[in-house]
Amino acid sequence: EAGSTMGNRLQRIKVENTEENRRQFREILFTVDSSINQSIGGVILFHETLYQKDSQGKLFRNILKEKGIVVGIKNQGGAPLAGTNKETTIGLDGLSERCAQYKKDGVDFGKWRAVLRIDNQCPSHLAIQENANALARYASICQQNGLVPIVEPEVIPDGDHDLEHCQYVTEKVLAAVYKALNDHHVYLEGTLLKPNMVTAGHACTKKYTPEQVAMATVTALHRTVPAAVPGICFLSGGMSEEDATLNLNAINLCPLPKPWKLSFSYGRALQASALAAWGGKAANKKATQEAFMKRALANCQAAKGQYVHTGSSGSASTQSLFTACYTY
Ligand SMILES: *[C@@H]1O[C@H](CO)[C@@H](O)[C@H](O)[C@H]1NC(C)=O
Repeated sequence: EAGSTMGNRLQRIKVENTEENRRQFREILFTVDSSINQSIGGVILFHETLYQKDSQGKLFRNILKEKGIVVGIKNQGGAPLAGTNKETTIGLDGLSERCAQYKKDGVDFGKWRAVLRIDNQCPSHLAIQENANALARYASICQQNGLVPIVEPEVIPDGDHDLEHCQYVTEKVLAAVYKALNDHHVYLEGTLLKPNMVTAGHACTKKYTPEQVAMATVTALHRTVPAAVPGICFLSGGMSEEDATLNLNAINLCPLPKPWKLSFSYGRALQASALAAWGGKAANKKATQEAFMKRALANCQAAKGQYVHTGSSGSASTQSLFTACYTY
């Protein structure tokens, strides 16, 4: 995560958001036993993390590569979208040069997040079109520099809308994204999609089962994402660790056609237990790594539809990780 995002995480466990504290937590995660590579295939680094080292002076990115884990970079730069009700788009200035440098520094994929909000008049047609085009230009620039783009159009869970409305909006957004990727000559086989799951808004009073979330999600994907796309890695948004795992499992058990690999690209839902176990103390390294490994394994099983909930999860794993208008 970016420094400011880490700040939100560290605040929850009352640890100061300094570069050194961020580095220490990352070191604990990255030096976990190499069997983690059976559950995690890639890590999206923030610019700071790409050039950060462990306490022995070894670059984090090399620690990851030695485990057979692919290194990616999170691009930054949201911008207000003029003429809308506080909607945003993504900026592309200098992206090509940065991608070329990252490639030289051992990065193999990129990720860029566009944010779409559900509200009275939102997302507007303008915001959907503009973000789809920007994501497509970003994807094209990545590919021209030898990076695999992860395309992330996130419909955020803020609001009280129901599951059906989220599905409707998600379909509109994804359809626009794949039209734009085609317009921009992006090679779909060399991309990954990182979408939201279709869920009801955070403030919706009606609750839905993982099976209902799965059916709405796979239906939306089936209607809009070409089979040429090899993989879809869901973001966890504000879901608790356990919900993110249960929903992914249900998605993989959903009886609709699923021509893509359906996996995870979780931030919050992979680290909440680990952060709670760490609490900013080096002495908690082992417990932190165990908590991290446990979530990684659970999601690895869920990505195959083989997760069995044991009912023994710690409290951190069932806590909502929702942050209003989540930015990073
Ligand atoms: C996982 O790590 C082990 C130990 O470093 C290594 O032997 C193995 O090849 C790695 N697996 C993958 C898939 O990279």
